Amino acid sequence: MAQQFAQVSDPHLSDLGGVRLSQLLSKRLLSYLSWRRKRRFEHRREVLSALADDLATLELSQLLVTGDLTHTGLPEEFRQAQAWLESLGAADTVAVIPGNHDALVRDDPGQTFALWQDYMASDPDREAGFPSLRIRGELAFIGLSSAVPTPPLMASGEVSAAQLSELGALLDATRGKFRVVYVHHSPVPGVEKWRKALRNASAVADTLATHGAELVLHGHGHRARLDHLPGADGEVPVFAVPSASARGLYGADVAAYNRYRVERQEGGWRLTVEQRRLDDAGEQFEVAGAQVLTLPRP
Ligand SMILES: [Fe+2]
Ligand SMILES: [Fe+2]
Repeated sequence: MAQQFAQVSDPHLSDLGGVRLSQLLSKRLLSYLSWRRKRRFEHRREVLSALADDLATLELSQLLVTGDLTHTGLPEEFRQAQAWLESLGAADTVAVIPGNHDALVRDDPGQTFALWQDYMASDPDREAGFPSLRIRGELAFIGLSSAVPTPPLMASGEVSAAQLSELGALLDATRGKFRVVYVHHSPVPGVEKWRKALRNASAVADTLATHGAELVLHGHGHRARLDHLPGADGEVPVFAVPSASARGLYGADVAAYNRYRVERQEGGWRLTVEQRRLDDAGEQFEVAGAQVLTLPRP
């Protein structure tokens, strides 16, 4: 039986209109100025409401949100993002990982990440923290956090060594299922400029090569792309989606997201990836293309 899930990324949904300058540390100030100048025109609530309408028409085993829900990671922004998550669905149907904007500076986790905890959580039999693991039928969703505080003007990420060794164990334990690894930054070495890159992309790619996976998903670049990584059981497609709220004003892709349909078949899996994109009028999402990948697996 086929199963479906979807990935949205980088909604950058928070409104900083009520923020006082005294709340902004130096790193946040740069992000705030970028929001004042550009981002508030690019990332729009009306696009997110069209997205919610479109998502409501789909039957999904899970909705993955691959980070950057906020602009500067202030507690008020976490509260806005929590309300948005609740509007999308219950915490066992929507799975979130943080992005670099959500972890811009180290803040009180009780006022920030604790608000998203139910949405970041694993299935009830596992402890809190990353990697997270949710199993839905034939699908195993493994979430990684690459969000770390960085110096000003940097948007890099890192997956901790502890997460990496746990990732290997989880990939082994779920072998035979359709294993989906999702992380904010691309784990493909060399695809991002150093300023925006996952610092230990090679180590993440090595772990996937050793233990295998069926699909890797990321955001961060605000562009759709497809790469491939070697995997122990066969090549692993790596998909990125644009920002879910973007009007595409400054050269980035207009808002889009992916729906994935997975079917077991003789000798492996059949994966259908459908891109759903904001239409030219900016009013609703429509199918912009689809591709079918065959993943041979032993
Ligand atoms: Fe982003
Ligand atoms: Fe990002």
